[in-house]
Amino acid sequence: MTDNKKTATLTVNGENYELPVHSPTAGPDVIDIRKLYSDAGVFTYDPGFTSTASCDSTITYIDGEKGELLHRGYPIDQLAEKSHFLEVCYLLLYGELPAAKDLETFETTITRHTMLHEQMQYFYRGFRRDAHPMAIMVGVVGAMSAFYHDSTDVSDPNQREIASHRLIAKMPTIAAWAYKYHTGQPFVYPRNDLDYASNFLRMCFSVPAEDYEVNPILSRAMDRILTLHADHEQNASTSTVRLASSSGSNPFACIAAGIACLWGPAHGGANQACLEMLEEIGSVDRIPEYIARAKDKDDPFRLMGFGHRVYKNFDPRAKVMKQSADEVLDLLDIENNPKLKVAKALEKQALEDPYFAEKKLFPNVDFYSGIILEAMGFPTSMFTPIFALSRTVGWVSQWKEMIADPQNKIGRPRQLYLGETTRDYVDIEKR
Ligand code: SDX
Repeated sequence: MTDNKKTATLTVNGENYELPVHSPTAGPDVIDIRKLYSDAGVFTYDPGFTSTASCDSTITYIDGEKGELLHRGYPIDQLAEKSHFLEVCYLLLYGELPAAKDLETFETTITRHTMLHEQMQYFYRGFRRDAHPMAIMVGVVGAMSAFYHDSTDVSDPNQREIASHRLIAKMPTIAAWAYKYHTGQPFVYPRNDLDYASNFLRMCFSVPAEDYEVNPILSRAMDRILTLHADHEQNASTSTVRLASSSGSNPFACIAAGIACLWGPAHGGANQACLEMLEEIGSVDRIPEYIARAKDKDDPFRLMGFGHRVYKNFDPRAKVMKQSADEVLDLLDIENNPKLKVAKALEKQALEDPYFAEKKLFPNVDFYSGIILEAMGFPTSMFTPIFALSRTVGWVSQWKEMIADPQNKIGRPRQLYLGETTRDYVDIEKR
C-alpha cells in the first residue's frame, strides 16, 4: 500500500477529520477509516459492501467497467488460452508462474494428495441418497478437520502449506464422490496417471462395468471451467472464508463456510439456477414473457446468469467460456437440446433489449458454464460443486494471504441500531 500522504477531509458535527488515503497499483484509491469511530464516534454504513474495501490483496484485480480480470497481473483470457488449472493454482498460491521443474513438483504433490482417508467414505453414508451434493460437500469438507489433525494449526506455515495442497487435491474426489453417492453408483478412486481435470471427469463418469475414456476436448473444457472460476477478488464466498479465518478457525472449517456461501443462487448457485430457468422457460417463444418478468419491479424473478455486482460490462470469463461452450456443443452435436436452444435465443434477445443494456446486465460466467456442464452430462445439482471445486484454490490463496498478514485481526463489523432503547421487563400477568 503506497502511503502518498493524500488525505480526505470528513466533516462530522462541525468537526473536520483528516482521513489517510491509500493508492493501489490499480483501481480506486481507498479512504482509511480505521480510526474514524475512535476519533469521531461515528460508523460508516455500507450494507452489501458496495463501496467498502475489506482488505488489501495482491492476488486478483477486477475492473468492472473495462471487463478486466487479472490473476497476479496476468489477464484471464491469456491464462485460459495458454495456461492450465494447476499452473494457475501455483500462480494464485505463490504469486509467480512456475519454472518447469517447480510446476512438475507442484503437480506431483497435488496428484499424490487426491485420495481421501478411507474412513471418510463412511461419512457419506450418513446422507440420504437424494441429498444435494453441496450439502454433502459442506459436511465432508468440514469433517476434514476431524481427519487431518496434522494440518489444522494455522500458526504453522508448514501445516498451512499441507492443508492448502490437501484441499486443492481432494476437492475433485470429494465432489465426484458426492455425485456418485447421489446416483447410487460406487465411488471411483483417483488415478495418478491422469491430469487434474481428466481425473475428475473419470471419477464422475467411470463405472466398474466399463471404464470412461476421457475425451481431450471435454477435459480441456473442464480445465478451462476450473481456470475461469479459480478466484475473483473479495466475492461473497471469499469474504466468508476470510471472516471465518479471522477468528483462527482451521482451514477445513473455513473452506466449508465458503462452500455454504457459494451455494446461494445469487452467487455460485446461479449456474444451477440458470439451467433450471432455461428448463422453466422451455421454448424460445416463451422468452419474451420471462424477459418482461425480469424487467418487472414487482416481480422478484431475475434472469439467472445475467448481471454482476462488479462487471458493468461483459464478464471477461464469459467471453472465454462462450468459446468453450461452442466447442463442446459442436463436439457433442447437441444443437437439438431445448435448453441450449433457449439459452442461445435468450442471450441474443437480452443483449438486444435496452433494459439490459442500460442496466449493464450481460451474461456472466455462470450463464455459459451451466450450458457446458449440461452438455457434458452433469445434472444441474453438480454445477455449484464444480464451481466450489475450482474456487477452492482462490479461497485457500486468499486465506493464506490473510493469515500471513501482520495486520490480520478478527473481523467484527458494527451496525446501525434501529431497535428498542432500554425498557423494563413486564411480568406476564401485566402484558
Ligand atoms: C457470481 O462477486 C463475484 O465475483 C461473484 C462471481 C464470482 O466469481 O465469485 O462472479 C460469481 O456470483 C456471478 C453472479 C451470478 N449470479 C447470477 O447470475 C444471479 C442473477 N444476477 C443477479 O442476482 C444480480 O445481478 C447479482 C446478484 C449478480 C448482482 O446484484 P447487484 O450488484 O446487487 O445488482 P442489483 O441487484 O443492485 O441490480 C442492479 C439493477 C436492479 O434494478 P434496479 O433496482 O436498479 O431497478 O439491475 C437489476 C436489479 O433489479 N438486475 C437484474 C438482474 N440483475 C440485476 N434484473 C434482471 N435480471 C438480473 N439478473
